Amino acid sequence: MDWVEVGKGIPSKAFHKQVASSVLAVLITTAIFATAAYSSNTNFVFNGFNGAGLLLNGGGAIEPNGLLRLTNFTRNEVGHAFYPTNFRFINSSSGEPFSFSTSFVFAIVPQYSDISSQGIAFAITPSTNFASALPSQHLGLFNLTNNGDPRNHIVAVELDTIQNKEFYDINDNHVGIDVNGLRSTASAPASFFSDSQFKNLSLISGEPMRVWVEYDGKSTVFNVTLAPLSVPKPEQPLLSSKINLSSIFLDAMYVGFASSTGTAAGSHYILGWSFSLNGKEEEEISLPLLPSLPPITEDENGNGEAKKATKLLNILLPIAIALLLLPFAAFVIALLIKNKRKYAEVVEDWETEYGPHRFSYRDIYRSTRGFSDDNVLGHGGFGEVYKGLLTKSKLEIAVKRIAHDSRQGMKEFVAEIASIGRLRHRNLVQLLGYCRRRGELILVYDFMPNGSLDRYIFGRPEESLDWTQRFKIIRGIAAGLLYLHEEWEQVVLHRDIKASNVLLDARFEGKLGDFGLAKLYERGTNLHTTKVVGTLGYLAPELSRTGKSTPCSDVFGFGAFLLEVACGKRPIELKTSGIDMILVDWVVEFLKKGEILETRDRKLGGNFSPEEVEMVLRLGLMCSHPVPAERPSMRQVVQYLDGEVVLPELSMEQLYAFDSSSRRYRLVAGDDMSCNSGTVPTLPSSSSSSSSK
Ligand SMILES: *[C@@H]1O[C@H](CO)[C@@H](O)[C@H](O)[C@H]1NC(C)=O
Ligand SMILES: *[C@@H]1O[C@H](CO)[C@@H](O)[C@H](O)[C@H]1NC(C)=O
Ligand SMILES: *[C@@H]1O[C@H](CO)[C@@H](O)[C@H](O)[C@H]1NC(C)=O
Ligand SMILES: *[C@@H]1O[C@H](CO)[C@@H](O)[C@H](O)[C@H]1NC(C)=O
Repeated sequence: MDWVEVGKGIPSKAFHKQVASSVLAVLITTAIFATAAYSSNTNFVFNGFNGAGLLLNGGGAIEPNGLLRLTNFTRNEVGHAFYPTNFRFINSSSGEPFSFSTSFVFAIVPQYSDISSQGIAFAITPSTNFASALPSQHLGLFNLTNNGDPRNHIVAVELDTIQNKEFYDINDNHVGIDVNGLRSTASAPASFFSDSQFKNLSLISGEPMRVWVEYDGKSTVFNVTLAPLSVPKPEQPLLSSKINLSSIFLDAMYVGFASSTGTAAGSHYILGWSFSLNGKEEEEISLPLLPSLPPITEDENGNGEAKKATKLLNILLPIAIALLLLPFAAFVIALLIKNKRKYAEVVEDWETEYGPHRFSYRDIYRSTRGFSDDNVLGHGGFGEVYKGLLTKSKLEIAVKRIAHDSRQGMKEFVAEIASIGRLRHRNLVQLLGYCRRRGELILVYDFMPNGSLDRYIFGRPEESLDWTQRFKIIRGIAAGLLYLHEEWEQVVLHRDIKASNVLLDARFEGKLGDFGLAKLYERGTNLHTTKVVGTLGYLAPELSRTGKSTPCSDVFGFGAFLLEVACGKRPIELKTSGIDMILVDWVVEFLKKGEILETRDRKLGGNFSPEEVEMVLRLGLMCSHPVPAERPSMRQVVQYLDGEVVLPELSMEQLYAFDSSSRRYRLVAGDDMSCNSGTVPTLPSSSSSSSSK
């Protein structure tokens, strides 16, 4: 204990806090030892967390001033802090859940102001072991398989700063009540009630805010209220929802916090916390006793520096003139103008609404060391790709530089980028944002350390991927494409699916890149001619006739991709003899002979599942069918790959269609061959939220 320090003249506030928390720690420790395995009737308050004895995990740490930090400026991190003992939440005689109330003060400080990091959740859970929980949108509470599982027995109040469509999030700044999963049972935009209306709050403002959570076990009403520290508790809660927790609560439950970061780091703080169960009076958090947040470092996107520069100019100039240091002043001005030109961007009024996705050119320029040749990752179909490292957040990025002179369609395209930026799927390369200069568009993506798949299929044999890895990548890409076609709020076509557009993360998980870009390319050219965009060999035959991409033409590209991954050959190989080898035809020939497995990539060696390889090859053919309506939809493809549905045999007629000479590059007769996946089911647009508003 720190009693000796009394004589050293600690400022009285700090002293109070220290004594308060020490005394509290003693009281709590006593309480713990005095009761059995769990406490059934208790309350606590922490104004700062020194000596609180919380169970910490991941990024969770108590800073010297008592501030609880849940994440520690690292990407894809989770942090947990739980009260050390569990509590009985169910009245054993009546079976009813106990009432409880809790209140806490939190702050979310995004490290990179252009990309918000994930949020925080207050959680009531049966265990404090979250070893299998994922960071990012899973908030460190759930993972891909247990999300939504009633066996979780988890109740959480999420302060969510990212819109995840797969969880039907209403926006990127909301409060939700989660039961057993991340699809909130109730949610509302972050706001507080004042002067008979709700006023918006930004969760990622970095400002401390307060949350009250109240539950009445009898009426099962669950209330959540949010407010800035400057106002008292609003009379009307933000969320008020009937939720029967009697089957959710197990006998012994822990209370605490979870938070996570994703592609962008941030820090999540809890400054104070009070809790009471079963009618015990809740002690108030004392705001003056709360620890302070670390000082906010300078605005990451360089605005701070820009402002400083102008300020410097304002001060320096008159002095310089006064001292007749005109040459020096001129030099300063020239330098500033040069700098301004160097980093000049094009920003139009309408772009402000896409604010969070806009990067400053200065940051991107610096991150790629001035687009240095050493940083070039590759030359894509649309322009150079550079590796970048954002200086302050240490976020690794891939920067795609696209020459683009057209103003036409730029607004629509940027709207689309903003919407693509909201696409979130583990098998899509995450678009982080963009920047625009004259004649140039710059897209910023998550960096993929293992590069593109083609290198491992067509490259050096010793780098070749085995079948298990290839099959996992195939299934992942199918899931990503299904998401684009059917699971997102609008149908997104990829238009250029091929091994070189599949990128591999550190664990060799496949992610589809470059989606939506083909459209820009189309728009960038003359509006009156539609240019077919894509790569020869992956282009569906109907495209050359209609020029119109459909989900079916994407499925065709996916078919070509399946064949190239299974056969280790490109869709069209130019032979020195002048006769092109067309992969589909080659595989069809072997299928007819009943020897389709012979077309497999020899680099696979003997270690593969013949059933899987054959299924992928036959599915590749089905997807490559010349008639769009004969191709399966991506949902069917995923069902075949997952083994949920057995892949049907190709009929003789279907095979015959492959047969007519000059096949895929000839226009297939009949003009209105409809596309199978034309009737894509769209998600209900109304969110399944209910709020008290
Ligand atoms: C995270 O916390 C550890 C332990 O406190 C510290 O050593 C490390 O520097 C921190 N990392 C960052 C990025 O702040
Ligand atoms: C508050 O936020 C909601 C949801 O983001 C938005 O629809 C509404 O227009 C905002 N209200 C004000 C006054 O800004
Ligand atoms: C929840 O909010 C409603 C509406 O303000 C209020 O009537 C009710 O008493 C609150 N319940 C709890 C448990 O705080
Ligand atoms: C809550 O559910 C339990 C059993 O699931 C039931 O016995 C109880 O009556 C329900 N309470 C309310 C208030 O509906």
